[in-house]
Amino acid sequence: MILSIESSCDDSSIAITEIETRRVIFHKKISQELEHSRYGGVVPELAARLHAKALPMILEECRSYFGSLKAIAVTTNPGLSVTLMEGIMMAKALSISLNIPIVEINHLHGHIYSLFIEKESTNFPLTVLLVSGGHTQVIEANSLTKMRVVMSTMDDSFGESFDKVAKMMGLGYPGGPVIERLARDGDRDSYPFTVPLQKRGELAFSYSGLKNAVRLAVESADKSDYADIAASFEKIATLHIMRKLKKYFKTNPPQRFAIVGGASANLYLRSQIEDLLKPYGATLHLAELKYCSDNACMIGRMAVDIFDSTKNVS
Ligand code: KG4
Ligand code: ZN
Repeated sequence: MILSIESSCDDSSIAITEIETRRVIFHKKISQELEHSRYGGVVPELAARLHAKALPMILEECRSYFGSLKAIAVTTNPGLSVTLMEGIMMAKALSISLNIPIVEINHLHGHIYSLFIEKESTNFPLTVLLVSGGHTQVIEANSLTKMRVVMSTMDDSFGESFDKVAKMMGLGYPGGPVIERLARDGDRDSYPFTVPLQKRGELAFSYSGLKNAVRLAVESADKSDYADIAASFEKIATLHIMRKLKKYFKTNPPQRFAIVGGASANLYLRSQIEDLLKPYGATLHLAELKYCSDNACMIGRMAVDIFDSTKNVS
């Protein structure tokens, strides 16, 4: 078995994955959303202190598996350095005391592996849209070692723009689920925000301009207008991704497309992507909802493949 640890942002999570069956044997996650909510975003120092409390509590529940562990997997980047360190220190301590290796996992690649948990029929190659709080990327994922970023954001990310819009409206953190809910009662055409980078040909994303346009709208609106603003914002934020993907697909038509990351839970985004893929006859792959946001299962699932590949070489 492999014990995996995730602490790159505001979720303290530990999982145990069986190497042979790739099944998740144990998983626990303690989220800090409530604690960060009143600040409208994650406060790194507070997050690190909460990890220092939560991770040992979860680990205590895993003691009975210690004798069966073959490796410790841990997210090492990208993420908040002070929170990553909490997971890394725990991994080091376990590795030394149990005399087993550490497998370092890139958090973004971990999100791609969330697609395979309890869905062993899904596999590479995949064109992946990664939409999280820190990143908006399109990745050509061909294998464990062949993942190439073909598009990324120049400033804010998709999920982050939802967080910032929610903060402007005083709706707490994380903003994604609240804005999505609010948008359901709004008119998507009431605020004609401009689609980012529409006159520029480059294959990239940008959310800072849209965020500022929404800020101006919020400042001159009543609370009763918030649902319309949220709906119009969600439409344009998504349309931006659709337009850039359409452009990318002209030279790279999709066959197997996936959406991963916390914001892949967004139903409007999912439905728009489904429509976009139809003319190509491409398949859409999604992780189980519980594995979309940060979790240690995806870290463990990737670690099993790394562990297997090194075993085959030696
Ligand atoms: O992948 P994740 O859990 O953490 C990072 O690696 O950043 O993603 C969290 C992000 C937050 O910005 C959150 O607001 C966003 O995902 N998110 C959503 C939705 N659910 C979560 N954004 C839009 N719509 C949602 N339903
Ligand atoms: Zn993440």
